[in-house]
Amino acid sequence: MCGIVGYVGPNSSGRALEVVMDGLTRLEYRGYDSAGVALVGGSEVVGAKRAGKLSNLTKALAEQPLPETTTAIGHTRWATHGGPTDENAHPHRGGTDRKLALVHNGIIENFHSLRKQLIADGVVFSSETDTEVVAHLVSRAFAGTGDLTAAMREVVNTLHGAFTLLAVHSDQPDVVVGARRNSPLVVGLGEGENFLGSDVAAFIGYTRRALELGQDQIVTITPEGYTVIDFDGTPSDGKAYEVTWDAAAAEKGGFDTFMEKEIHEQPHAVADTLLGRTDETGLLVLDEMGLTEEDLRAIDKMVIVACGTAAYAGMVAKYAIERWARIPVEVELAHEFRYRDPVIDEKTLVVSISQSGETMDTLMAVRHAKELGARTISICNTHGSTIPRESDGVLYTHAGPEIAVASTKAFLAQITASYILGLYLVQVRRDQREGVAEVMSELQRIPEKIQELLGSMDRVKEIARFMADTRAVLFLGRHVGFPVAMEGALKLKELAYIHAEGFAAGELKHGPIALIEPGQPVFVVVPSPDSEHGLHGKVVSNIQEIRARGARTLVIAEEGDEDVEPFADEVIRVPRTSALLAPLLTVVPLQVFALELSTAKGLDVDQPRNLAKSVTVE
Ligand code: F6R
Repeated sequence: MCGIVGYVGPNSSGRALEVVMDGLTRLEYRGYDSAGVALVGGSEVVGAKRAGKLSNLTKALAEQPLPETTTAIGHTRWATHGGPTDENAHPHRGGTDRKLALVHNGIIENFHSLRKQLIADGVVFSSETDTEVVAHLVSRAFAGTGDLTAAMREVVNTLHGAFTLLAVHSDQPDVVVGARRNSPLVVGLGEGENFLGSDVAAFIGYTRRALELGQDQIVTITPEGYTVIDFDGTPSDGKAYEVTWDAAAAEKGGFDTFMEKEIHEQPHAVADTLLGRTDETGLLVLDEMGLTEEDLRAIDKMVIVACGTAAYAGMVAKYAIERWARIPVEVELAHEFRYRDPVIDEKTLVVSISQSGETMDTLMAVRHAKELGARTISICNTHGSTIPRESDGVLYTHAGPEIAVASTKAFLAQITASYILGLYLVQVRRDQREGVAEVMSELQRIPEKIQELLGSMDRVKEIARFMADTRAVLFLGRHVGFPVAMEGALKLKELAYIHAEGFAAGELKHGPIALIEPGQPVFVVVPSPDSEHGLHGKVVSNIQEIRARGARTLVIAEEGDEDVEPFADEVIRVPRTSALLAPLLTVVPLQVFALELSTAKGLDVDQPRNLAKSVTVE
């Protein structure tokens, strides 16, 4: 979750500092609690680091003379080892000569033993971080080799854990060296200047040409070029690609917050995720599936692993895939799956869902599944990220960069991609083309319906503003409305810091109904009146039950569903669609509600407290 930027370029006034600060600003969305930069100037490395927001760092930098320099690194930190203090902020220095600075994302698992050894050797530490251990080790290795790349290679081979590292040394002023294991690092290729970033947002304002690094690789950038080697020293080429996200896509585009912008991008997120999935005959074609049709026919069970919002997308996927493809689907939180000895084998298809592709819990679940022989597919929004790279196949969602910490458009794109996967399984395993085409054509109409829905959110916003002092909100849903209720509750917790719970409406009578007291607001996600097994009527009865006990009922129902009117304090209408696709619509008012309530409370919508965008620790 830390943000990392590295730059080396021409010696023009303030350019290195400007690029690195700009990169850190664009990486703010990853979540951070301190920040710092190091500039190579003359015989030493200078810079500043501060706890808190980037403005603290900017102030600290303005208070000191800074050198003209070609080379800089920067970092936004989310505390793991050691609290969010100035001392623990990165960059960290190694040695005592102020020549080396290093930044790090991830966790060095064997840092205790390495630190103990360094202390025994007389090294004095100025922070509690695992990173400072690495800085001292690289500084020492440099003293032996006189070459930063060689020093980095010597050290990374002694480290355990997950890390991206960047280092600069004043004896090699035109060089930044990066290394990665289990943690992201991308190279940006410019003209007479080159960049490193924890993702492309770090340098998207300067270049679109990027280079993907493999696992366990070291990259050395200079103004003129770059070299890549494996940790064992073998030269490598890296994989060059063109970044298709434009700079404006990474900014707010006229909205007050990234989250609001991203909610409004949802019609595109769904449409783009559907784009290019069928051939001219209407057959689904998934280019990066990675598994043959024969492989998919041999599967006898699916397990979906994910965390948070992505796990709720997985719950929606279970209802759809089981219904359409008639294959058993389990959904499990990735951090639980990994440690409970799951019964899976080579006939199991493990599908991970992750916006970032870097969530450590999900990555570990994928690795565990592979160890047990399962086939793995990832549904992911971030090209070249670790989870899809380590999976047999991938189905990329095309939601574009999601900057707000709370996930919105990625959720809709994940659900859309899961539907596509389910339909592909129908095509391959059940040979039913017509049913597939029917659902695909209903899916094609969803973006327009989301657009329409977004145009009718005024009342939802009003309700939210009136509820700014509310202490608890409950959410009920059934069938695919159940994960939507959970997601609505999660959004409210994250954004407005209000206690919120999502329940399966059928579970109400088994306990949660005791929470209902006069005035208690309850959102109810009502299934379509066309739903099978009389589900609609059952949920309408649930609304009556809670209303009778004084609940304030906020009902999300399809256009034309008149049955809910007598029991609803408020009816929020969503356009009609087929029952299984409804989550793509019903969740939207809940996202808008949480956003508006958070705004009404004056909270930081894009960066809620205690949260990080990409959770790269277990
Ligand atoms: C909630 C949210 C998180 C993420 C979860 C997984 O708004 O954003 O719950 O969904 O941390 O993240 P990814 O999808 O990146 O694996």
